[in-house]
Parts: sequence; C-alpha cells; structure tokens
Amino acid sequence: MGDPVDAAWDRIAALPRPTLAELFDADPARVARLFTRFPLGPDEAGGGIVFDWSKTHLDEDLLAAFEQLAAARDFAGKRRQLLTGARINSTEGRAAEHTAQRGVGAETSVEEAAALHARMRMLVEAIHQGAFGEVRHLIHIGIGGSALGPKLAIDALTRDLALVDCHVVSNIDGLALEQAFAACDPATTMVAVASKTFTTIETMTNAESALRWLAQNGVADPYGRVVALTASPEKAVAWGVDETRVLPFPESVGGRYSLWSSIGFPVALAAGPDEFEAMLAGARAMDEHFRDSEGRANLPLRAAFADLYYTRVRGCQTRAVFAYDERLALLPDYLQQLEMESNGKRVTADGAPVSGPTAPITWGGVGTDAQHAVFQLLHQGTHLVPVDFIASIAPGDTLEPAHHAILLTNCFAQGAALMAGGNMAADGKDPARAFPGDRPSATILCDDLDAATLGALIAFHEHRTFAAAVLTGINPFDQFGVELGKQMANEIAAGGGSFDAGTRALLDAAGLG
Ligand code: F6P
Repeated sequence: MGDPVDAAWDRIAALPRPTLAELFDADPARVARLFTRFPLGPDEAGGGIVFDWSKTHLDEDLLAAFEQLAAARDFAGKRRQLLTGARINSTEGRAAEHTAQRGVGAETSVEEAAALHARMRMLVEAIHQGAFGEVRHLIHIGIGGSALGPKLAIDALTRDLALVDCHVVSNIDGLALEQAFAACDPATTMVAVASKTFTTIETMTNAESALRWLAQNGVADPYGRVVALTASPEKAVAWGVDETRVLPFPESVGGRYSLWSSIGFPVALAAGPDEFEAMLAGARAMDEHFRDSEGRANLPLRAAFADLYYTRVRGCQTRAVFAYDERLALLPDYLQQLEMESNGKRVTADGAPVSGPTAPITWGGVGTDAQHAVFQLLHQGTHLVPVDFIASIAPGDTLEPAHHAILLTNCFAQGAALMAGGNMAADGKDPARAFPGDRPSATILCDDLDAATLGALIAFHEHRTFAAAVLTGINPFDQFGVELGKQMANEIAAGGGSFDAGTRALLDAAGLG
C-alpha cells in the first residue's frame, strides 16, 4: 500500500480536465451545488453571504478526490486540535487560539478571552465618556498582524462615521508617522502601541517618537495617553505604560490572527464596542460552520480544494482577489499577510521537504479600478490566474443607484468574460482580439458589508488558509522566514554583523557603514 496522501494527489492529477463551459453544460445542477448561501443570523433578517465556486473547475470527481486527500491528512483531527486549544503550532510548541477570542475553543481560553474583552470594553467606554478628557484622535502604532487587521476593519466599518478618528501607522519611514501627526491635535490624541512581543523595532521606535511629539506639543504626561495592546504586558509596564491601560492578549493568538483580541482596540474605539462584538459574532458563525460541516459542504475547505488544485495541478503561481467595494480596499493587503506568512513554507510540520507548492502568491486590488490596470493579463496573458471577486449587494454609498449597479454588473461581467472567452473581431479570427476563456473565478457576494459580515469574511479566509495548510501538511502558524531579515537589520543597527561586499557597499554609500 502506497502513501494515501500521495495516492490522493495522483488521483487528483490524473482526473480529466473538462473546461468550465463543458462542466456547466454537463451538469444543470452545477450552480445549485457550488453556489452556497451562508446565513449570518438565525433568520434571513440576519443577512448572509453567497460563496459561488461554480466558475472553478471543481466537479464531482475532483471534490471526491480532494475529500479523500482531506481524510488522508486527518483534516477532521487537525481541525479538532485547532478548535480545542491543542498545540497545533508544533514548531513553536503552542496552540493557535484565535477562535477562542470569538467564543469557539477550549473553555478556559474562551472564558479568559471574554474577561479580556470586557476589560477592553470598559476602557473604550471610559474614553468615549471623557475619562481621558476630550479624545478625538488615536494614533495606532503596530506593524504586520498588529496593524493590518485594525486598518482593514476601521476602513471597512467607519466610512460613514468614526467615533474617534484613527490613524494606523506601521512603517518605520518617519513620513508615515509625520502624516499622522499632521492630521491630529496632540491635546486630544491618544496613542495605542500594538505589539505582541513589545520588542519590534519599527513599532517601538515609532512609539518613542509619538511620545516625544506629545511632550513637545504641551502634553504634560505623554505616557498617560498611551494604551498598550500586547501579549507581553510586563514589557509594556516596564516601558512605562500604567497597568490599567495595558490590554493583554494570550501568547497563543498569532500576530496575523490577532484582530479579534485587544489588537482590535482601535476598531472598538472608532466603530464602537458593539460593532466590534458584532464582528466577533460574524466570525464565530463562520467558526461554527467550519467546525460542523464536512467535506465539500465546508466552505473554507472547499475553497482550499480549489486553491490547491490550481496551485499544484494547474501550475498557477498566483491568486488574485478583487474587492468590488471601496470599503474592502485593504482586504488584498490583509490576505497577503494571512496567506503568505502562514503558508509560504518549504518544509512540512515534521520538517520534511514539501512535495509541491503550498500556496499561491496572493495579490489583488479594487474593482473597477483594477479592470483598467491589470485585467488585460488576466484575460489574455499567458498566466492562468484564479480570481476571487468580493462584492456587497447593499451599496456603501448614498449616490444614485446607478453607481452600485454599474459596480456590480462589472464585477459579474468580468467573471463571465474570464470563463467564456471569445473573439472581439467581426470575423472572429483576429488573434490579438482572441480570449482563450476557461479562466476560473470565485465570487463572494455579501448581502451587506456590516460588521458581522466582515468578521465572517475574515474568518472564512483564516480557515481557508488553515485547511490548505492541513492538505499540504505544513504548519501555518509559525513565520521563521521573517526573522532572518529582522535579525540582520538589528545587527547593522547595533554596528555589528558581517555582510557580503555588495551589502557593505550599500551601507557605505548610505553613510551607514
Ligand atoms: O513580520 C513578522 C511579524 O512577526 C508578524 O507576524 C507580526 O504580526 C509582526 O511581525 C509584528 O510583531 P509584533 O506584534 O510582535 O510587533
């Protein structure tokens, strides 16, 4: 008997490859099978999200073969480990408990998260009620997972009204912080320092500069204006933040999965704690679906099937995500970190070399802008790029309905055109005007982009990423790949390190040698 995982991959690779048009022709029930509505509330009033994977090449045979692969990889067992707080992050010897922040996980972790959220709510409400004087601005300082989630959620949820004007600053390039200073009045500004480790050089340098800016602009007690969001509370206290303004989160919540923890403090401050909790509830609904659905009916797992089919079998190196909604303009950035930092791995959880690519490169943008910039390659280039479209039926704007109607029809037309192909020439023969078609896409269509929907959308992508990692046998929860560059930059900053001649020349040219 051969290895069941290899056997499943061999079966998947050997299956016939009908075109999308052939798949639609062959199966009148195709849409019903792969166009799934995910309800967000107990009834229709709660809204929902459609996950339409009908324009991918997944068919009965592929789905069955991928289900066998999932069984061979013990997907159900790994999922149980994830959702019960087992040490699934094997290389770092810890659990990955982001779902406990939303109420799904080991009982003690769920209780601890609820208590920490209650503390965060108290601080947010105290700020809203004036306990820190007038607070009109927040400068949130953090990087990577300590910035991308809050930035996305604030942008998505507070376009119409922000209770506090928030500026998320991540880059060490001083220009980023200076721009935030220019937009804020120091007398009415608080600073959130968000860092799981409370050691990241960019964040700590920016935080020191923000404190200096407050002091130089007449704030008598700059540390009194700081809130720390961290899994290392003792370091935050040692740095100077009063314990009452340190909002901790557990070590078992990974940086890129930390939006749900106290790292979401600026979301609660800007959108209100009820909105933050609605986001958690939406994510929890997706957690429960992920926990309780099997095989192809499990939406994140089904998406992972398609992702790995294109990556490993069809040789697609990238997957593009286009949000046809300005409020989700930052979603591609967020997903880039989530997917590439999690699944950009070359060894399995056991340290063996992986047998093939583990994840596509994630990229994307906003529709319709992207149509006029990068879609040429998607339609006629030599790369095959699976595309995700994400849109909301309810508009985010209040202008003439024509705006939203044009936005949505363009979104749907792109998916249709990628699949159909054709020739724009009158005689149908001009190769320059020919479109091969048969290019896959998936569409995620939300009833409305409210906080619960956003939570469910992000949780869907977290679980999709985890499911893909299980299918390829890797650990999605470590990120040693980013450590080497950090270490070498720190060595340079400390005046040490031994570098190649080219790097030495660059350091000398910049006066840093
Ligand atoms: O860039 C690597 C990384 O470790 C991310 O995973 C993390 O979100 C980010 O740095 C910030 O780390 P910290 O929250 O500890 O400052």
